[in-house]
Amino acid sequence: MKSFYHGEINEFIEWRDTDGNIINASDGGIIFANGKYHWYGMALRPLPMASGPCGGQMTDIGVVMYESEDLLEWKYEGVILEVSHDPQSELYAPLRFERPKIIYNEKTEKYVLWCHFVKYPGNHGNGKGEAEVGLAVCNTVNGKYEWQGYTRPIDEKGFVRDMTVYKDFDGSAYLIYDRHIIDLVPDGESSRMKADRCLHVVKLSDDYLSFTDTYSRIESAAWREAPVVLFNNGYYYIITSGLTGWETNQAKAFRTKHLMAEWEEIGDPCVDDLTHTTFNTQGTNAFYVNGSNIQIVMLERHNTSDFEKCSYVWLPAKFTDNTVYLEYSKDWSIKNVI
Ligand code: GAL
Repeated sequence: MKSFYHGEINEFIEWRDTDGNIINASDGGIIFANGKYHWYGMALRPLPMASGPCGGQMTDIGVVMYESEDLLEWKYEGVILEVSHDPQSELYAPLRFERPKIIYNEKTEKYVLWCHFVKYPGNHGNGKGEAEVGLAVCNTVNGKYEWQGYTRPIDEKGFVRDMTVYKDFDGSAYLIYDRHIIDLVPDGESSRMKADRCLHVVKLSDDYLSFTDTYSRIESAAWREAPVVLFNNGYYYIITSGLTGWETNQAKAFRTKHLMAEWEEIGDPCVDDLTHTTFNTQGTNAFYVNGSNIQIVMLERHNTSDFEKCSYVWLPAKFTDNTVYLEYSKDWSIKNVI
């Protein structure tokens, strides 16, 4: 691959690793370490399960990693967080390590992976193990991450849905997650269910392995998911999607000057997207091109008829003084952006 090639917005383009295999690293991220980019994500199943059209979205492999020096040639590094085939194990497959994100802790010198954990058989739910954040830790970027278990931030009442992790410039780190609460409210003689979903920011402890009591509700980002965090010119931005499962929908961005303060909605960042579908994708993560100010937004065109063949769409984030925007490009390379 010589450039980031995405084709038309209704196309699925297969990106391949240096062995010629399709890159299968769903909804993950990139971490730069030891002079290389490491791209990781959940390895999805090749074909839908007999039980339904969406069965390929779980993993029976785990989180995998690839490495590259130029972001274009990717060499497979293997499975970094493995599922188990023992029915007694918490990690019995298939399951979901959905939207995994890795950050490095300078103080403890450990790589910390957070993900949205959904236990066997990997269907989202509200029960224990079905709506959690999971944690795994490793001493090296591409070693075997050791599972630490799962939990729910803030309290047990809030089911965990989509999430991301953001490491700020001062070394503090945050989990941003879609907190889902279902309350029973009295309604005449009986009661009815009332659901609330809203993105929340929770500050992680100094070692990134647990949560502090510092958190805030991003009031403006109710019923939003797939958060992607960026920073430019004093503003933090999140690009989010609506809640339509694997169906694409219109992105909405928010900005703030302080992660725990109020976030202001600033509309759809996708320029000339007449389809209002985030260019037929959903956001995954953003990262800096090493040694530059360029931030690349990783998006994914989920392929529900064969999840292993999801398409990766990476676009350079563009900014004005106080807003972020994305322009679709079928084909681009970093040297043309610098
Ligand atoms: C998407 C969400 C994904 C996944 C999917 C349904 O909207 O962003 O992470 O949960 O729904 O399984």
